[in-house]
Amino acid sequence: MRLSAKHLLWLKGAVHLTAILPIILLILSVVSGSAGGDPVEYIIHYTGVGALNTLVVLLMLSPLARYFKQGALIQLRRPIGLYVFAYASLHILAFLAFDLLFEWSLFLQEVVKRPYIVVGALGYIILIALSVTSFKFIKRKMGKRWQQLHNFVYLVALLVPIHFYWSVKSEVIEPSIYFVIMGLLLSLRIPKSDKILSSISRMKLKWNNS
Ligand code: HEM
Repeated sequence: MRLSAKHLLWLKGAVHLTAILPIILLILSVVSGSAGGDPVEYIIHYTGVGALNTLVVLLMLSPLARYFKQGALIQLRRPIGLYVFAYASLHILAFLAFDLLFEWSLFLQEVVKRPYIVVGALGYIILIALSVTSFKFIKRKMGKRWQQLHNFVYLVALLVPIHFYWSVKSEVIEPSIYFVIMGLLLSLRIPKSDKILSSISRMKLKWNNS
């Protein structure tokens, strides 16, 4: 069964709801005082992990669309990609506002003290470029170069787990899990694995038809 325009509309609604609801819950937990002993750290962690999880969902879209032969799923790429950017922006804004109190002179000191910020900033610069060029008319104008630029999302998929791993002091299991997930998703981009995925999908189709 191919996804209809109506299904896609429902899916888009579900994407918006799943992305916005956690932000409402975050605001409620901060306001009600249930955001732990250090609400600033809580917000930075929550929004950072939110951006990373959304990035995982974004990278899963193409393999899922190919496996289930549902090309329409690709239309969810733009809203999900923009939510990665939105979460990352909230994460950085929380750091600048609550940790640095917008004291720009402190930013350099922080970078020296926490060099993993440079890795995160590099990822964020790429996310800005991808978001700004996500409009249809820019895509048309850029032609082939658009895809070349948007392949940089795979670099972001490596930079963010490095940023995460480097930022934590003791707990390394969570960032390590993200390395494994990103490694798997990136390996699906290797042409040979594309063929494997398509063959599995063809085998599944034959199985269903027999
Ligand atoms: C200028 C850019 C960035 C800055 C200044 C920044 C800042 C920070 C800081 C200060 C922490 C550590 C919080 C702590 O010590 O508990 C952190 C952790 C983290 N950041 Fe970023 N970040 C940036 C970019 C990004 C981007 C682009 C993403 C995702 C797309 C991201 C995702 C994360 C994640 C997942 C963590 C680990 C969460 C935690 O355990 O606290 N960051 N970041």
